Amino acid sequence: MTAWRWLACALLALGLCGTVQATGWRHLGEAGRVERRADGVVVHSGDARVQVSVHADGVFRVRLAPEGRFDGDASWAVVQAAEPLQVAIEESRDAVRVRAGDVVAIVHRSPLRVDFVDGDGRALLADDASLPMAWLPGAHGTRVRVWKAMPADEHYYGLGDKAGPLDRRGRAFTMWNSESYGWQGTTDPLYKSIPFFIGLRGGVAYGVFFDNTHRSSFDFGKESDGTLSFGAEDGPLDYYFIAGPQPGQVIERYTALTGRTPLPPLWSLGFQQSRYTYHPESKVREIARQLRDRRIPSDAIYLDIDYQKGYAPFTVDRAQFPTFEAMIADLRREGLRTVLITDLHIKHDPDKGYAAFDSGLRDDVFIRNPDGSLYIGEVWPGDSVFPDFTLTRVRDWWGGLYRDFAEMGAAGYWNDMNEPSVFNVPGNTMSLDAVHRMDDGTTRDHRAIHNVYGMLNARATFEGLLKLQPAQRPFVLTRAAYAGAQRYAATWTGDNTASWFHLAQSTPNLLSLGLSGMAMSGDDIGGFIGSPPADLLTRWFQLGAFNPVYRNHAATDTRPHEAWVDGPKHEALRREAIELRYRLMPYLYTAAEENARTGMPIMRPVFLRYPQAEAFYGNDRDFLFGGDLFVAPVVDERLDAHAVSLPPGAWYAFGTSQRFVAAKTPIKINPRPSGTPLYARAGAIVPMQALVQHTGEVPKGPLELQVYLPDAASDECSGSLYQDDGESFAYREGAFLRVAYACRVGASTTSLDARVVHGGFAPWWKAVRVTVFGVAQRPSAVKVDGTAAAGWKYDASAKTLTFDVADAVRDWTVEVAR
Ligand code: GLC
Repeated sequence: MTAWRWLACALLALGLCGTVQATGWRHLGEAGRVERRADGVVVHSGDARVQVSVHADGVFRVRLAPEGRFDGDASWAVVQAAEPLQVAIEESRDAVRVRAGDVVAIVHRSPLRVDFVDGDGRALLADDASLPMAWLPGAHGTRVRVWKAMPADEHYYGLGDKAGPLDRRGRAFTMWNSESYGWQGTTDPLYKSIPFFIGLRGGVAYGVFFDNTHRSSFDFGKESDGTLSFGAEDGPLDYYFIAGPQPGQVIERYTALTGRTPLPPLWSLGFQQSRYTYHPESKVREIARQLRDRRIPSDAIYLDIDYQKGYAPFTVDRAQFPTFEAMIADLRREGLRTVLITDLHIKHDPDKGYAAFDSGLRDDVFIRNPDGSLYIGEVWPGDSVFPDFTLTRVRDWWGGLYRDFAEMGAAGYWNDMNEPSVFNVPGNTMSLDAVHRMDDGTTRDHRAIHNVYGMLNARATFEGLLKLQPAQRPFVLTRAAYAGAQRYAATWTGDNTASWFHLAQSTPNLLSLGLSGMAMSGDDIGGFIGSPPADLLTRWFQLGAFNPVYRNHAATDTRPHEAWVDGPKHEALRREAIELRYRLMPYLYTAAEENARTGMPIMRPVFLRYPQAEAFYGNDRDFLFGGDLFVAPVVDERLDAHAVSLPPGAWYAFGTSQRFVAAKTPIKINPRPSGTPLYARAGAIVPMQALVQHTGEVPKGPLELQVYLPDAASDECSGSLYQDDGESFAYREGAFLRVAYACRVGASTTSLDARVVHGGFAPWWKAVRVTVFGVAQRPSAVKVDGTAAAGWKYDASAKTLTFDVADAVRDWTVEVAR
């Protein structure tokens, strides 16, 4: 125990209000008066107040007011209004208990501290009894901090895309959105600040969301073994305790609190081709031609900063792009959408007829210094000014800047550099004294807004696009984010390097983003910085096929990264990876819809489905893609055997009847020649489609269902399918199709059912082709709705049964008799 900590304990034991001289931190002391409220309590301690309230089912909110006055209730992140719930309050000599549903907050009186327990009294999360919440007034505000007991066997996940292992235990992290060119395994902070983490112990999970936009930090036992802490340099001590017990429930509750990713346009799940930069126009057209001629399925081409005139956002360099609009239209005819970078810095270019600058100056939208002068920082265009996105009218102005591009037919927008990144200044960002204006007429300095600035940029883009094209789902890609950014944008992990390290790092990053609400995420396939050797690039294409956002991107001075650059052998492997992605599109889109509806990420750590499987708590390599496919990617260059430990239960090598039982693993596989080791859960029903070259092409042929038979009647066997028009909001009015599939293995008959849960949309298919894997012997009969199925086939060596169901957009049952 450190000396100062000992001193804190001693003073608290004496019952003194904990002023800890050694560090200046002022800790809470004894509890005094307790005010009862409908949703919880406010407990006094000297001048300080602690509020413990029930926000929603399984969600408690804790706030500290050092001077007794709570800050206003505004939050950039929280969108869920507090729910009126039954709250029971019991007071005893030692504590006040606030109970709602299955969770109890225990507010101990001496010293004042807060523990959370479940309905059976089991501890979930407890304040460190020797270090109650504290504050520390300073020159730039009042620091605040919370210390919690840290059980030896607890694991920690979240905080968005931090570098290093998925389990955050033993490390400390800073939240301060930072340009992080070429970041490595120990680089911290990175581009985003998502102050939310999940604790997981013995299968039981909870979450903590610390809603503070100032520079903040989280320590999972690095400074002191056995103590985790979080706090910020200023701003409110305001956090949410989010109960599980399943980790998936924690995510569901966290995303109810901070919002969910809207259903993305279908094309954004296709393969996306990018580079810094494809120019001039002839180069863009050539890349499009190559993609189509070489039959590399793809849905989008990105234009990076060189399409602009002098790097000024919302301009087009007509010398290089003489028929820009026609190019966008021509690409679109080929099934390729154009995504344009639109950085947030506006070139400081007075009196030149630059509309974004002139209109912004006229409308007073740019951030100013404390002396009232414009804040000017250097970015790509040179001297630049920065929109004051905290103001609604400025977000509206920004949204309007997209009018021309929207009319030209651009399909998506890329908000980069929005930490914000500023060149050649200490800290690489805006002056901390720059003034942000609020809608209520007050101001905040940049310290308070920095971490949320990029998210407000993405919000302005998203909301602007919705106004310009109300029937079209916007696609926005943002680099910086704060909690809740998932409501507006997809994201990527910034400027990675063409290294095996970064290939392996992409999985923990994307898993963590998904756990932290931002499921629509990817990394630069091939690595942004540097030139990947052929085998690395191929592996990256293979892994990326299972990432929610699948975008190949590279920096300006690197050798080309496109699929075809390393000769026919590698091109074929890369094409095969992309083709599998497109064949799985019905499954992937169904997972994206689940994410939009419940927050469940698309890429999932194994413990999300199997919380008890502790062997996977520290597995940074493997993951579930959707609910039923297990991906064990090859992420290192060693060519010796690749060991795969399967999650609990039985699994099939994807697309085969080769079956494995978890207990008998690890399986050793030779990672050559190709492909990502992929497994389907026994009991999975996976919807697929015929290969297309882009998502706008109608697949030829039926919907394909792969059924992987489980062992026994009691084993879960299910799947689902969600489809809609893929681009509008008509699904909100019911224009979607949802089908639930289930199978049951009986003693003499195996049955497969389709049930149309919602039939508001006519899909591209009429018939379904079913392939059942793991059929041990030739069936004696196959009946569709009681009538003998025509043309069913049994393949004895593959142990597969194949049959068609015609006119299948309805409820149907197939019975397969032994
Ligand atoms: C930043 C982005 C990168 C982009 C480049 C030029 O480095 O992270 O993706 O290509 O800026 O716009």
